[in-house]
Amino acid sequence: MTTDPLVVFTPSGKRGHFPVGTPVLTAARQLGVDLDSVCGGRGICSKCQITPSYGEFPKHGVTVSDDALSEWNAVEQRYDDKRGLKAGRRLGCQATVQGDIVIDVPPESQVHRQVVRKAATARAITMDPATRLYFVVVEEPDMHSPTGDLERLERALREQWHIDAVTADLSLMSKLQPVLRKGKWEVTVAVHKGHKDSVAKVVEIWPGLHESGLYGLAIDLGSTTIAAHLTDLETGEVKASSGLMNPQIRFGEDLMSRVSYSMMNPGGDQEMTKAVREAINDLSTSIADEAGIDADLIVETVFVCNPVMHHLLLGLDPVELGQAPFALATSESMSLPAREMDLTKMNPRAQVYILPCIAGHVGADCAAVALSEEPGKSEDLVLIVDVGTNAEILLGNTSRVLACSSPTGPAFEGAQISSGQRAAPGAIERIEIDPVTKEPRFRIIGSEKWSDEVGFDQDVATTGITGICGSGIIEAVAEMRIAGLLDESGLIGSAEQTGTTRCVPEGRTHAYLIHDASAEGGPRITVTQGDIRAIQLAKSALYAGARLLMDVMEVDKVDRVVLAGAFGAHISTKHAMVLGMIPDAPLDKVSSAGNAAGTGARIALCNITARSEIERVVREITKVETAIEPKFQDHFVAANAIPHKTDPFPELSQVVTLPSPTFNSAGGADEKSGRRRRRRS
Ligand code: FES
Repeated sequence: MTTDPLVVFTPSGKRGHFPVGTPVLTAARQLGVDLDSVCGGRGICSKCQITPSYGEFPKHGVTVSDDALSEWNAVEQRYDDKRGLKAGRRLGCQATVQGDIVIDVPPESQVHRQVVRKAATARAITMDPATRLYFVVVEEPDMHSPTGDLERLERALREQWHIDAVTADLSLMSKLQPVLRKGKWEVTVAVHKGHKDSVAKVVEIWPGLHESGLYGLAIDLGSTTIAAHLTDLETGEVKASSGLMNPQIRFGEDLMSRVSYSMMNPGGDQEMTKAVREAINDLSTSIADEAGIDADLIVETVFVCNPVMHHLLLGLDPVELGQAPFALATSESMSLPAREMDLTKMNPRAQVYILPCIAGHVGADCAAVALSEEPGKSEDLVLIVDVGTNAEILLGNTSRVLACSSPTGPAFEGAQISSGQRAAPGAIERIEIDPVTKEPRFRIIGSEKWSDEVGFDQDVATTGITGICGSGIIEAVAEMRIAGLLDESGLIGSAEQTGTTRCVPEGRTHAYLIHDASAEGGPRITVTQGDIRAIQLAKSALYAGARLLMDVMEVDKVDRVVLAGAFGAHISTKHAMVLGMIPDAPLDKVSSAGNAAGTGARIALCNITARSEIERVVREITKVETAIEPKFQDHFVAANAIPHKTDPFPELSQVVTLPSPTFNSAGGADEKSGRRRRRRS
């Protein structure tokens, strides 16, 4: 039996015996304990910090004496003087084993540290990026054994980091010699190795120890907006988030109008490609500025986008996506140098990864939602709806996952709505209508107060009440239905039919007046019959897509619903169901996942195994094409009613009792019962 000291690492629980004098970092490596190091044990990077524990540890069967590790040495002292080490911390490459010891590896010293995500149900991200930093000491040239600097750098990486072979671009080669000499043969390199690469590539080199970090961009490229998260590739921390409008809007509001623009205008696709690439370049610069980093430190970018944006980003004409059979140039993931896409405002050797597309209408953004929400790992049947100009819908569980997209149009984003506006300060985002008095009260973005609360007027003094945003219009229409201002077919009643003078004539139809500041020169905010029709079209498309997937799955109900997308995060689940946007489900089983596509992009940025995983998952997803499926049309028509013409909503009726479906048969009793239920909910 060995008399060598026992070393126990926590939290991994890995343990082993090591000869006296073994550095803790060496012991960790031999046991496969996740302990970071960039400088290779030279005592300069501080990534290997550990916390030794002393005393009795019955759980581990050891007693740790005060001299179980070597004494604090000059290297640690120097580091402590310069940068400071937290009390109780040691450098794992300097402290050596002298006796039985229990060693804790704090989260920030773990290479594959987990990035905590806010939502409790969401998966954690394990750090395992494609590009990493390595500090190496390179042998100096020698006339007697002539070798190139790159070959000696390669040998250093092999001997010090077990990286077998590397390549380097010409642009890197031109930096290599001066940087090696400036660093006195000690350099830090950023090495990229994608999940499909057999050989690694040196993408950047700095003299000495590089301590300014390494960054990546996760970009959700939408038809309307482009959102980016600048992420630290060592810690996974999001350093800055920023977004801008997609400048392609000037070529067409929605995807199909952009495809048409390309069809009608020779070179139109190239114009759109140029516009979006310029926007991404601007975004790279501004987000780096915001985070206070040099944009050259951005060495990776991951994109998620719908198929049309995918093609336009890559410089591929999207014309085939405008007609059946909706063929993609490629549905595979893509890895390529950023400069091939004219993305010049990041590191010149930055690498891009684009998630795979699922089908001609179901893009890499939907793949990213699948990566983030993992429907294929769900025991219960989950419906995931990414609400946007084009809704992407996933339905699945551990047995299979289906996907489709549905053209909802921009109504849910407040576009094509008479008083509609984007979600910005001043926009009505919440609304309630009293079922008895039919009077509204509302909240606007920028104030926590309801419009009938003291202090509301002061709060809105600067922003004003300017319009109604997407979540506001959904609540408004649903509340109008609950209050009996709207019948099942979506018709707004007259003042006589509804009992309120807020229902005002507008041409041959009626509108419901929410707020009127016209006397003071302000806006008059109404919900018109045209608004209701736009919302009905959008919600019918969404519901019909979901219902079609349920048909293919041969089910009539789902266990839970997840609303994804930046907009999905703000929708009131109850109102979405009153409207019939989503199939009936217990309200406590309807949740919001926030920007799941953006999260999927971050996961793929931080973890290369996730890239292989989503490529496999996408191959297994069954695609359902709504555009050619005749039943989609039937579902669409039936879904036009609020909440639905034929499908029952038993779970919804537990929470809200809706007034009679038509004004002719509407009665006071129905409305009162609606109110009673509402109060209980
Ligand atoms: S490994 Fe770099 S300081 Fe210990």
